[in-house]
Parts: sequence; C-alpha cells; structure tokens
Amino acid sequence: MLKDLNIGIIGIGTVGRGVVKILEENKEIICARAGVNLNIKKGVVRDLNKTRDIKIPLSTKIEDIINDDKIDIVVELIGDVQKSYEIAKKTLQNKKALVTANKAMLAYHRYELQQIANDIPIGFEASVCGGIPIIKALKDGLSANHIIALRGILNGTSNYILTQMIQNNQDFFTALNQAQNLGYAEADPTLDINGTDAGHKLLILASIAYGINAKPQDILIEGIESINADDIEFANEFGYIIKLLGIAKKQDNSVELRVHPTMIDKNKMIGKIEGVMNGISVIGDRVGETLYYGAGAGADATASAVISDLIEIARGKSSLMLGFERTPQTLLKLKPKEEIQSRYYFRLSVDDKSGVLAKIASILSENHISISTFLQKEIKHKNAAKILFSTHTTTEKCVKNALDQFKNLESILQNPYIMRIEDE
Ligand SMILES: NC(=O)c1ccc[n+]([C@@H]2O[C@H](COP(=O)([O-])OP(=O)(O)OC[C@H]3O[C@@H](n4cnc5c(N)ncnc54)[C@H](OP(=O)(O)O)[C@@H]3O)[C@@H](O)[C@H]2O)c1
Repeated sequence: MLKDLNIGIIGIGTVGRGVVKILEENKEIICARAGVNLNIKKGVVRDLNKTRDIKIPLSTKIEDIINDDKIDIVVELIGDVQKSYEIAKKTLQNKKALVTANKAMLAYHRYELQQIANDIPIGFEASVCGGIPIIKALKDGLSANHIIALRGILNGTSNYILTQMIQNNQDFFTALNQAQNLGYAEADPTLDINGTDAGHKLLILASIAYGINAKPQDILIEGIESINADDIEFANEFGYIIKLLGIAKKQDNSVELRVHPTMIDKNKMIGKIEGVMNGISVIGDRVGETLYYGAGAGADATASAVISDLIEIARGKSSLMLGFERTPQTLLKLKPKEEIQSRYYFRLSVDDKSGVLAKIASILSENHISISTFLQKEIKHKNAAKILFSTHTTTEKCVKNALDQFKNLESILQNPYIMRIEDE
C-alpha cells in the first residue's frame, strides 16, 4: 500500500483541469514512478457555478488549501502576479512544497521565493515552454557546462502569427485574428505579441543557466507588432527567416539577455520551428549544441510538466530552486542594453528625391555603422521609396543614435524600423 501525498490545486482552469485529468487517467504509472499515491484533496476556483467535468472537492477560499495541515503540496495555477506571489509565500511559510506554472510571477519574484523556501521544494518546470523539460535540462543535464548561448522560440502565439505571415502572406492583424479564432491567442494577446511573455521565460532560464537575477525592465524586449511584408521579403532574399527569439549569450563575465524579432539563417533547426511549437537551442562549452522542441502551451503539455514536478517532489530529490547551491566565485553580470552588439536590418520610407541617400549615409557613417546589403523599392504613385538594408556588426547605442537622427530628417516619411540579425 503506497503512502498518500496530498495535493491542493489553486486554480482549476485550462492547466488545473489538465492536471486533474492526467493524474486520474495516468494514475498507475504516475504513482509507480513517484513511489507514493498523489492524491488531489481539494481545488480552489473563483466561481463554483461554472460547469467543470472533474470530480475533486472545490472551494473558493485559498486558505482552505494553504492552511490545511493535511496538504503537503500546493499547486498554484491562477495566473496573477501579486496574488500568486502571496499564495506562494504563504505556502512556503506553512512549510508546504510549491508547484507553479506562473512565469510572470517568477520573472519578478523567483529569488525571494528561493530565499523563503530554503530547502522546501519549489517546482516550476511548466513556467517555461510548457511540455519541454528545459528547466530540468539546464538544472541537471547540462550542469557541468558553462552555457555559451541559448536561443529560443519561447512563445507559441507569436510563432504561429509569424508562420502565417511568412507562409501565407497574411498581414499581422489577419494572422493575429486567426490565432485568436483557433484559441492560440488570448482575448488580450498583448504579452504574447509584445515579447513580454518570452521575456519572462528568458529571465527564468537565465537564472538557472547563469545565476543572473534580472527583472523584465532590465532587459531588451521587443515584439512582433511592427513586422511587415517588406521585412519578410528582405529576409527571404538574403536567406533568413524571421523568428521572435529569446537570446542569452555569455561573453567573458557578462551575459546579454534580449527578446526581439530576429533574422536567422532559414536552414538553422530553430528557423524550421513552425506554428505554435516552441524550440530552444542551448550551447554548452563542453556538450556543444543541444536542441529541445515541443508544445509550449496547452492543457496536456503544461499539466504534464506540473505533474513531473509533483513526482520529483514525491521522490524527495529536489535541488535548490534555481540550481545554484552556493554563489559562484565568478559572478556574471547583466550586460547593459546599449552595449549589446549585433548586425541590424533597417527599413526606412523616404521621399524619392536626390540627396536623401547621401543624408542617410552620412548619419550612418557618423554613428560608425556600415552597410552590408541594400535594397531600394519604389512606393508607386507616392513619389516615395522604401530603403531596406542590413549592417555589419555594431552596437545598440550606435543604432539608437542613428534612429534618433533619422526621425529628425524631413525626408523620412514614417518611423524607421529595425530588426536584429543573428548569424551564429
Ligand atoms: N494555458 C496554458 O497553456 C499555460 C501554459 C504555460 C503556463 N501557463 C500558466 O499557468 C497558469 C494557469 O493558466 P490557465 O491557462 O490554466 O489559466 P485559466 O484557464 O485562466 O485558469 C485560472 C484558474 O484560476 C482560478 N482563479 C483565478 N483567480 C482566482 C482567485 N483569485 N481565487 C481563486 N481562483 C482563482 C480560475 O477560477 P474560475 O475557473 O472560477 O474562473 C481558474 O480556475 C498561469 O500562470 C499561466 O501563465 C498556462
């Protein structure tokens, strides 16, 4: 007879329901792997009148779970930052293990939680890329390595939208609409399309890969809202594909962290990840490149990760939350945004008259930016032109200065747009 480990789930929505169902349907193998009987004692929701096809006792009082002496593990699946943080703190203060899928909360509060928890286990595999076990890969599988670089498609909604724009020539709003109709995008998709959700996940990964304690406002985050057909055409012309990437790179004792639309070689594995799928490439100094691919969201994939945390906790082998048992002697620092180096793509709409190109060239030269490839397209019936070009490697600071100067040029017709290019 297996001993019982009692679980309380706060939030029985998409993921919570998935956890209840999988624990019911795969009970035998899960309990065999865990060595205990994982028993859901209670769930908490906002509205008891909603129809839910699950058979666990429900309450609307969070205290019914976090103050219940018989509950060993609290699974937090409500999604709010502040409220979830309060739940997480009280859970740990009451000496119960915590499992959460809440990347937004962890992007702000993971270090505080680690400190409160001390040796109480916290599982958060589901917070980054749903079903892909990337946290365990970084924390355990790759733990002998310095992580040289990590590049990931960390948000399925934006990857779906970009795939539609590239493969089916849809504009951004048509693709977004379609993603919403198919249930891939929330009614309010802001955090998915403006890069914030991917930024939250990158910050969590960076803590495990590098021990970097940064918050969303500290890193460069840009979304996919301004990408248009010209950018896609330019990328295609020069052998690139556009992906919203989360990028972490170590150089000497600093780490750069950034999320933005990126032109990458279309033959790279990560360039071939389409639709709502997620993928991550991690380069370790000893192991070389490793690749992870799978569903980044959805009830089953995310619940699968939540349950893997429950099993690990049941086995009693959890390591410290963010994977560093003590502070390394060489502390890595977050590289300031303006020092980040990259190649860039520029899109400018300009008056089609003489002297304009010379002014653009002069601003680029003043800012030590040199052009690598160049395309000019006439805008029909408007006496205007689009100028599209890529640069050699330069810094964010130089590009920002050039953009500020471009904006003041009379002959520039719209805000200039830039995108970064990754050749590695
Ligand atoms: N959905 C995914 O594919 C996915 C993937 C990765 C990570 N996540 C993360 O997983 C978490 C849960 O996401 P979800 O998609 O399952 O959310 P969801 O479908 O909106 O479900 C949220 C659940 O929490 C309950 N809830 C909300 N506020 C509450 C409160 N103040 N008190 C009590 N119950 C409350 C809701 O109750 P009612 O049912 O009564 O409204 C609902 O059952 C989020 O942190 C999300 O970022 C989700």
